[in-house]
Amino acid sequence: MKYRYSSTLLAVFSLLFFSFAAWADASSAASSSVGKVDAGQEKSSTCQGCHGADGNSYGPEWPHLAGQHANYIAKQVLAFQEGKRSDPTMSAMVTGISKNDIDDIAAFFASKSITTQEEKNEIKIVAAGRTLYKGGNYYKGIPACAGCHSPTGAGNRPGVIPALAGQRMQYIVKSLKDFRSGTRSNDTNSIMQNVAAKMSDNDIKVVAAYIAEMK
Ligand code: HEC
Ligand code: HEC
Repeated sequence: MKYRYSSTLLAVFSLLFFSFAAWADASSAASSSVGKVDAGQEKSSTCQGCHGADGNSYGPEWPHLAGQHANYIAKQVLAFQEGKRSDPTMSAMVTGISKNDIDDIAAFFASKSITTQEEKNEIKIVAAGRTLYKGGNYYKGIPACAGCHSPTGAGNRPGVIPALAGQRMQYIVKSLKDFRSGTRSNDTNSIMQNVAAKMSDNDIKVVAAYIAEMK
């Protein structure tokens, strides 16, 4: 597929108002979703093969993009393009897409909602995940996920903090392990690497089970 190159650069200004320090990405400036939804639907036809026609992905290893904040989607696509984040499947998908097209594609997926629900997990696993999500773990120094990703899992668009509610469990587990090992390291100020570093495999499993069931 051939994409035009154009100049609109997604810029990000992150401001965390819930907890920890406010941070600013020195290389970027403020931007909201500037993309066009209709154009994005057409331009995202390749992406839809895995991430779904409406951003509800077709398999557990592919993240849903539906309802995700456009600025976060654009940030990640740029990161894959620049090699700041890499994945054997995903990295090859984004070569040659212009910044303008990325914004349109991001706007399209952001305009959709997650409608698929995965298999439910055991109640006690989900309950343990809920406790960790809402309150963190004081003794291990794990902050409450809710503090940044919001109590409902909606994330925070101005802060470029992704929505998590209803995301694929397998993908959440992989992401947290990738942050923990440093395989995924394009998070501003290593914010998620520092969170994940304190989490055990079991912490990751239970919180992912809870997140997948959040609506
Ligand atoms: C062949 C399957 C496939 C196709 C096609 C594909 N992706 Fe992906 N995508 C993946 C996988 C796998 C991941 C998870 C990567 C990881 O684990 O880091 C991913 C991750 C992403 C993420 C990160 C999501 C997050 O929550 O951080 C974004 C954004 C994304 N893809 C956008 C796109 C766009 C835009 C296209 C089309 C240009 C596309 N993808 C095409 C498989 C695919
Ligand atoms: C201090 C704020 C903060 C806290 C606390 C926090 N997160 Fe995050 N999280 C972020 C930011 C910012 C990102 C986006 C990183 C990036 O741009 O790559 C993120 C990304 C993620 C992702 C990747 C989502 C995706 O679509 O790829 C997962 C999963 C995640 N966080 C889970 C958690 C869990 C679980 C907790 C609680 C144990 C938590 N986070 C606590 C700020 C936070």
